[in-house]
Amino acid sequence: MIIRPYEPGDTDALYDICLRTGDNGGDATDQFADPRLLGEIFVGPYLRYEPDLAFVIDDGGPAGYVLGVRDTAAFERVCEREWWPPLREKYPPGSFPAGSRDAYYVERLHESRTADPAIVADHPAHLHIDLLPRAQGRGMGRALMERLLEALYVAGAPAVHLGVGAANTRAIAFYERLGFRTLRQSPNGRTMGRPTT
Ligand SMILES: CC(C)(COP(=O)(O)OP(=O)(O)OC[C@H]1O[C@@H](n2cnc3c(N)ncnc32)[C@H](O)[C@@H]1OP(=O)(O)O)[C@@H](O)C(=O)NCCC(=O)NCCS
Repeated sequence: MIIRPYEPGDTDALYDICLRTGDNGGDATDQFADPRLLGEIFVGPYLRYEPDLAFVIDDGGPAGYVLGVRDTAAFERVCEREWWPPLREKYPPGSFPAGSRDAYYVERLHESRTADPAIVADHPAHLHIDLLPRAQGRGMGRALMERLLEALYVAGAPAVHLGVGAANTRAIAFYERLGFRTLRQSPNGRTMGRPTT
């Protein structure tokens, strides 16, 4: 198992990893009618706009990724301008039955969401990390995170934040172990952050 930079040919596999870890770290394949929807939100724009901050675990094929953004506010602006409009056309409101997970994320992609300015002020970068079960628990998550933190530091981001669901207790323990602290908490989840050094 090695860590390497993202390559354009990885895209579909990374969308698939996003889906297979999309249920609070577990496989969400059975929960979505559209297998690409989650990836269009949590993977695609990162690969498009910050390809140099995307790293892949490879064991003959992608088995995990970390995706970073140096400047969250700038990323949100370019997504609003370029990434969301075609997806909003592709997935109009009501594309999926009310109450389904697809419907929830379609609704979400029609909202102009922005990160909390108080968090972004001190933690301008953000990230997503997802490993398939075969790559988990072997130190690869830590190695991937260290690779991204170094790249973010070199790119000039002093600190990074992330969001994690309350039910994903394993990921919360992992982030705490890696020095992330909770910046904001709600019943649904928390925002955590740490310096990139
Ligand atoms: C969460 C995840 C990224 C962690 O990666 P990993 O490769 O399994 O973790 P590592 O083996 O690198 O562990 C790194 C450190 O965290 C600790 N850790 C990991 N899971 C832990 C847990 N459940 N409880 C306590 N410590 C834990 C390890 O002991 C290790 O400590 P050390 O390096 O000081 O010895 C990975 O399991 C994963 O992708 N899960 C599914 C998707 C997901 O939930 N992503 C996060 C969405 S917010």
